[in-house]
Amino acid sequence: MASTTETTGESVDTRSATTTTQAWSEPGESPLLLLLGSNQDPLSERGVECPGALPEPSDPDLVARALAAKEKLGDRLFILGHHYQREEVIQFADTTGDSFKLAQQAAARPEAEFIVFCGVHFMAESADILTNDDQQVILPDLAAGCSMADMARLDQVEAAWEVLTRLGIADTTIPVSYMNSSADIKSFTGRNGGTICTSSNAAKSLEWAFEQGERVLFLPDQHLGRNTAVRDMGFSLDDCAVFNPRKPNGGLTDDELRNAKMILWKGHCSVHGRFSPDSIDELRNEIPDINIMVHPECKYEVVSKSDYVGSTERIIKQVSEAAPGSAWAIGTELNLVRRLALQNPDKRIMFLDKTVCFCSTMNRIDLPHLVWSLENLAEGRVMNTITVDPETSKWAKVALERMLALPG
Ligand code: 13P
Ligand code: SF4
Repeated sequence: MASTTETTGESVDTRSATTTTQAWSEPGESPLLLLLGSNQDPLSERGVECPGALPEPSDPDLVARALAAKEKLGDRLFILGHHYQREEVIQFADTTGDSFKLAQQAAARPEAEFIVFCGVHFMAESADILTNDDQQVILPDLAAGCSMADMARLDQVEAAWEVLTRLGIADTTIPVSYMNSSADIKSFTGRNGGTICTSSNAAKSLEWAFEQGERVLFLPDQHLGRNTAVRDMGFSLDDCAVFNPRKPNGGLTDDELRNAKMILWKGHCSVHGRFSPDSIDELRNEIPDINIMVHPECKYEVVSKSDYVGSTERIIKQVSEAAPGSAWAIGTELNLVRRLALQNPDKRIMFLDKTVCFCSTMNRIDLPHLVWSLENLAEGRVMNTITVDPETSKWAKVALERMLALPG
């Protein structure tokens, strides 16, 4: 979809710059974009609204209240924050990271009684799976889900597996599931000899999978699967077949399924789906030496035109190590791109699209929800715990540990 709104030209305070401070242009707002992912679906991997009264967003004491609750809880508490979180929330994180780093960090904190996850539901579920039974994982707003994770439901994936079984190819197909999936999809993956991947280790996970079998069923992000297979693994676009769970046989012939090296689930991220090759062409015309960096959840046509591709952690590293004065257009969620602009005042940082593109479910975790969670915890009330049942957890952990054991 082409964007129609012009940039506002508003600039943010870029803190103390060591060289010339570059102004940040805020993209324009689109009501449609602000709504992405905000619907409440009972079949969704995310939960429901949180119970109880939330502090008023206008309360001037919110920061002090969060600090006081955090101090009271001390080492019993560990707060994880994904890079897409709002500034008002991320300032309280003990560790920030991409999904891979946050999973590692959750597993590495056995002493913390409470892990407060400032991120989305599938991340908190993974933390619960990787932590001990006596640790509790808390998601400050249960409605913080992921619309991509919702695109693969267990009944749909099991029906797809039956198709592969009928064709006699399930035994030689290895499921590889993106971290952005529900715990029961991760469990299916572990039970069927597969592994999890994140945007920072998808190529390694696919290499591992092709050592185990002849083809991969990649869930649920077709773009990460295609980008990794074609760009990093040397497969062609023709080696990839998109399985549509809403169609019989996935909308594919038996031969298309048998011959595919990558069976890509028809799922995508609505936020990263916004970026277009046209925006890249326009920017390159305007600023010939611009560097384009995008997240691998973007479409293949976008990734193919970009100079760099990487996870959120990788994007931060690349930009922070770039030469002063260099210009960067970044194709990922807006909270992170804004933060990059703040943290790199000596570089020119732009958002790759002209319109606002927040992940609205990541944005559900705001300061009132965080304060509400922390104050309840400090008073001995553990609210919004994310608990994966033991059977699901057992196999999901197998799949997650396969990923964590991949060479670094
Ligand atoms: P990262 O693992 O790169 O942080 O990505 C998570 C995510 O949800 C991207 O949309
Ligand atoms: Fe899910 Fe996309 Fe939001 Fe990431 S940015 S959490 S994939 S909806």
